[in-house]
Amino acid sequence: MKILLVGSGGREHVLAWKMKQSAKVKELYCAPGNGGISDVAECVDIQATDIPALLKFAKEKKIDLTVVGPEAPLTAGIVDEFEKHSLKIFGPSRAAAQLEGSKAFAKDFMHRFNIPTAVYKTFDDIKKAKEFLHNVPFPIVIKADGLAGGKGVFICQKFEEGIEALEQIMQQKVFKDSGNKVVIEECLIGEEASILVVSDGKDYVILESSQDHKRIFDDDQGPNTGGMGAYSPTPFITKDILGKIDARIVEPTIRGMHKEGHPFKGVLYVGLMITIDGPVVLEYNVRFGDPEAQAVLPRLKSDLVEILLASCERRLNTIRLIWDKRSCVSVVMCAGGYPGQFETGKEITGLEASNDKDIFVFHAGTKRQNSKFLTNGGRVLSVASLGDGIADAIEKVYKAVDKIKFYRCFFRRDIAAKAIRKATRRTVPMR
Ligand code: AMP
Ligand code: GLY
Repeated sequence: MKILLVGSGGREHVLAWKMKQSAKVKELYCAPGNGGISDVAECVDIQATDIPALLKFAKEKKIDLTVVGPEAPLTAGIVDEFEKHSLKIFGPSRAAAQLEGSKAFAKDFMHRFNIPTAVYKTFDDIKKAKEFLHNVPFPIVIKADGLAGGKGVFICQKFEEGIEALEQIMQQKVFKDSGNKVVIEECLIGEEASILVVSDGKDYVILESSQDHKRIFDDDQGPNTGGMGAYSPTPFITKDILGKIDARIVEPTIRGMHKEGHPFKGVLYVGLMITIDGPVVLEYNVRFGDPEAQAVLPRLKSDLVEILLASCERRLNTIRLIWDKRSCVSVVMCAGGYPGQFETGKEITGLEASNDKDIFVFHAGTKRQNSKFLTNGGRVLSVASLGDGIADAIEKVYKAVDKIKFYRCFFRRDIAAKAIRKATRRTVPMR
């Protein structure tokens, strides 16, 4: 088969690496790809959002399957466009991608199907939104409706912060038209976790659980980022909680989207808060999580291409997933200044750390220059390790991370530490 992968981050590197292992794959292209991806796929100089150019390429090369990594082309309708031309593509239609593309759509959908989520109200008028803030308890969460590159959520501790968030989103339009509407919702308390589900519109398979670390600094301090590291599985999703996630959230979401005429084909990412009342949806995304994919997919023993094809061909009910029982921890290495301003073009050394069979160095923002790799983004690398349990995986991954160097490189030192703390708490006698 000939496969075209769309995207350029760490998520796309792990997808390319995993798909390349499939006996089905003869040729693998990635548009636009990055330095590391060029080791496993032929990188094509087309941006992920240039749908006409991607379509032209897929037709010319007679691509058998296109796999879309990021959300922007999905919400812009790449799947509808490819399917109109009878090309096979893994991902949701534009209508189904609204689950991520519009938080107001997602909230109203959850409300209609009784799916647990924070109590909310939607506004398209800043005056009314401001008035509403007079009558709510703080902290409160304010979210821009549309895509905002993971920056559109404000946790407001007091009234003045709420007003400031509304002005930034709806008046100054810092997220452009994504801020035409806002969702204001209750602030949930609990432990965050992520579940990835592959669906064909009717049937689905749930992948192993994971937990991301969104804040920039250790102990969840500082601003939110795209994700600083993840691990899988997470002890915060027990068998009992997973049963609840399936029955209360995943099943009604897939059924509801089908019922409303937008069957969800592709990966549904459910961002959860595990509260004392059980799992509650924080957000839906319509693609693999980044860096969750780098922690989950190294544990998948089954052929990924076979799973993605089964989703496109509506036969996921025939698929059983096989998992490596070991744990995986993935640490994101960033360029100094991220998530604000940072420099690029700096040489990366120590990449031979990946010579160990249990260590995977996935590239996010890198480019190749002859035999060297240079930094080319804020999140530069995503280093992952398999280990016999979380503690072993943590030890191995940080040994590898410590060997890799580039100008003003930084990373969190506490990825997956919460999993260890949780395990330790459990062993304390209840007396
Ligand atoms: P989202 O993009 O909706 O996942 O939000 C980004 C981050 O904001 C989440 O990962 C949470 O850390 C936080 N967040 C979002 N909604 C809520 C909420 N209702 N209560 C508490 N934290 C939230
Ligand atoms: N790790 C968060 C995301 O992919 O949206």
